[in-house]
Amino acid sequence: MPTTIIRDATPLDLPALVTLWQALVAHHAGDGDPLWAVAPHAPETYAAFLRQQMGLRRAKVLVAQGPDGVDGYLVGAIGQRAAVWAQREIGMVFDLVVRPEARRGGVATRLLDAVSAFFAARGVTWVQVNYAPANAEAAGFWTARGFRPLLIEAYRAPGESC
Ligand SMILES: CC(C)(COP(=O)(O)OP(=O)(O)OC[C@H]1O[C@@H](n2cnc3c(N)ncnc32)[C@H](O)[C@@H]1OP(=O)(O)O)[C@@H](O)C(=O)NCCC(=O)NCCS
Repeated sequence: MPTTIIRDATPLDLPALVTLWQALVAHHAGDGDPLWAVAPHAPETYAAFLRQQMGLRRAKVLVAQGPDGVDGYLVGAIGQRAAVWAQREIGMVFDLVVRPEARRGGVATRLLDAVSAFFAARGVTWVQVNYAPANAEAAGFWTARGFRPLLIEAYRAPGESC
């Protein structure tokens, strides 16, 4: 029996979720790319974003509640692709983080299954995520969960030319 339960987040969870998000950002920033630098107000801005998502009918903020606190969380929402595409509505996963001590126990899979069920209950069966290809954990997880890349997001730094 898993001792971790999946539940809806509440505003009381915000400090724990922001702490997990900061660990994710630090993980990304470890590769030295300046595009991962965050603004000074980022924690408050991210908390406001999560609070807003908690109030939207098309969004879900889920917490994996372990015996010792929050093991992980996922935030996602139903979004729309441009009107030119036949497949317009997509379930989007914005962020997914599991604390290091709780990894490889199926927590992220359960969070993803729960948000996928939320999307499916609204008739949305495609699910999308953005992840950094250099993030081996994310690449391993999303690939194992059946996601395949469609686009590459590319940036040119100031001063670079073609
Ligand atoms: C990616 C992450 C959310 C996975 O969480 P998790 O709870 O450990 O994932 P699960 O236990 O549900 O893993 C399911 C499967 O995904 C794959 N997987 C998970 N972590 C992996 C890793 N580090 N390397 C390779 N494959 C991995 C495996 O196939 C795994 O099944 P297995 O353990 O039976 O081999 C977690 O490692 C994490 O929070 N990483 C830092 C934040 C991050 O990168 N988030 C994603 C940003 S989009």
